[in-house]
Amino acid sequence: MIRKGNLYYPTKEFQKAAQLYDKAAENPIKFWEDLANKGILWRKKWQKTFVHKPPYFKWFLGGKLNITETIFESNLVALKNKVALIWEPEPLTESPEYPRGKEKSRKITYGELFSAVCRFANALKKLGVKKGDRVGIYLPMIPEVVIAMLACARIGAIHCVVFSAFSPQALKARLEDTGAKILITADGYFRRGQVIDLKTNADEGVKKTKVKKIIIVKRANNEIPWNKKTDIWYESLVKNQTKSCPAQIMDSEDPFFILYTSGSTGKPKGVLHTCGGYAVQTQATGKWIFDFQPNDVFWCTADVGWVTGHTYGVYSPLLNGITSLMFEGAPDWPTPSRWCQIIEKYRVTILYTAPTAIRMFAKYGEDFVKKHDLSSLRLLGSVGEPIDETAWLWYFQNVGKSKCPIVDTWWQTETGGILITSLPGLGPFRPSYTGLPFPGIKTDILDDRGRSCPVNKKGNLVILPPFSPGLFRGIYKNPKKYRETYWSQYGSKIYFTSDGALRDKQDLIRIIGRVDDVIKVAGHRLSTGELENAVNKHSSVSECAVVGIPDKIKGEVPVIFIVLKKTQPEEKIKPEIIGQIKKEIGPIALPKEIYLVEDLPKTRSGKIMRRILKRLFTGEELGDLSTLSNPEIVEKIKKMTTP
Ligand code: WT7
Repeated sequence: MIRKGNLYYPTKEFQKAAQLYDKAAENPIKFWEDLANKGILWRKKWQKTFVHKPPYFKWFLGGKLNITETIFESNLVALKNKVALIWEPEPLTESPEYPRGKEKSRKITYGELFSAVCRFANALKKLGVKKGDRVGIYLPMIPEVVIAMLACARIGAIHCVVFSAFSPQALKARLEDTGAKILITADGYFRRGQVIDLKTNADEGVKKTKVKKIIIVKRANNEIPWNKKTDIWYESLVKNQTKSCPAQIMDSEDPFFILYTSGSTGKPKGVLHTCGGYAVQTQATGKWIFDFQPNDVFWCTADVGWVTGHTYGVYSPLLNGITSLMFEGAPDWPTPSRWCQIIEKYRVTILYTAPTAIRMFAKYGEDFVKKHDLSSLRLLGSVGEPIDETAWLWYFQNVGKSKCPIVDTWWQTETGGILITSLPGLGPFRPSYTGLPFPGIKTDILDDRGRSCPVNKKGNLVILPPFSPGLFRGIYKNPKKYRETYWSQYGSKIYFTSDGALRDKQDLIRIIGRVDDVIKVAGHRLSTGELENAVNKHSSVSECAVVGIPDKIKGEVPVIFIVLKKTQPEEKIKPEIIGQIKKEIGPIALPKEIYLVEDLPKTRSGKIMRRILKRLFTGEELGDLSTLSNPEIVEKIKKMTTP
């Protein structure tokens, strides 16, 4: 279907260079060693490349580095005046509808970014932040979020970015777990034309935590509550700082950052990444998978509050010395053309986004896309959830004009960087199949007894030693959970991804979806347990069950079944539940529907059978109900859920 003559790929050089699958498979450790030597500036070379003490492992032992030195010092003369970051604010300055819309887009060169990072790093030091301290970052998509992350990296502080649309409660949980003493936030930001007051959320979130100082970036100019004891404006803090700050030299295995993500239970897990391995994998995967070229303008549309934004919005493009684009706003606001306008305006060459966005745009038809010049694009990427054939084709034909390859990239917060994808130009590409493991990565698909599944048979996706340098090293302060979640299904030497998958005759991997209680809502990772916890906090709720059901645009959406303590009017209880979820998690977790039910289907031992509830929506056979203690309830719920 992809006609070779039309494609920009593969170039001869790329094809030649990419003869690395075989070599990498022969000796993956040596393969990563070469990439580490080529891609990263080391202060001291490592002594041992890989050490495995299951379920723990280490990479580049004894190596010393600071990731910001590869970004800045390694190439400063050449890159000084090159644009590192393009920032597009949400308000359209041209439009008279926005009286406040004085915001200008910003272009920040590597030289300017370096100065800003050093000044902020010095300011943090002055506030007493030291190597190993945790710093909370609760910022919207503005350049200061990158500056803040890199400033932490510069001085060896561990950043913990919290998605700005998360609620105060969600922020608090993360601040408590990390024990951060500093929080960096903003007065507000723009979303769909509204100013969102972030500072009030931040104030609520820091209550009863160890946070002593709140640094506030002025962004939306909104009125904010001010606490003289804790609050400092970012501007006044960096004003008198010098533009140079020596890099804190880190050990390869020193903690680099913590990012929280959802697992099977209610409590989010602090995924811990380390300096050396993350740097190597982040640099190399970007270079190979997006085939970064010096003039690229790379746009990863994910928010930095999710790992995609960390790795491919910030670190990977900067480690490769290319230009990264950041956009503050919502994708289809004020019109569905907004993203196309941005691609056109900045001549974006690589677009990396999620299937949910593609499906959302497809809903508007193709005409709006045709009005824009998207000819600068040469490569497209997809991430976060399976991309179905329809969305794949829409993306390929309407955005890539049937010329740009699509790299579908599979990875997780835990893996830190992409582990499965077909390389551009090499392929093979098959819509809805993610592709091959990245060179040097060994995967398998296992059945419940640990046997390798034959072609086309569904099983569990696993990663085998030596894994990858960027795979996480633990769950912050929770070694038990680390072992249980990832290293017990198939023993301590096999990384269990929690994804179901199969492979075709060409060995291409198709990801089917999570086999645990994680649901992907518009690409965002949530757990049903987390939602149930939020709902259960409502005083009228006796018990509840949350399941993810298929959705045409968002991939999956949650629906909630609630048994109330005593009957209450629906009009009253439903908005309260919605409010409860917004308060505990944030608007991304809002359910598609809430059903007030008499009872939930349960086994005789009292376990809620979520699987059966889910099947009411997927059209699958309900299966044997005779093991339930209350099979009659299923029929009743079925009547409620079928329109
Ligand atoms: C889960 C991880 C990947 C970084 C952003 C999400 C699903 C991810 C794909 C893909 C099918 C995918 C998996 C995975 N997933 N990429 N290309 N095709 N599914 O990171 O929030 O930690 O979520 O996202 O289910 O386990 P995350």
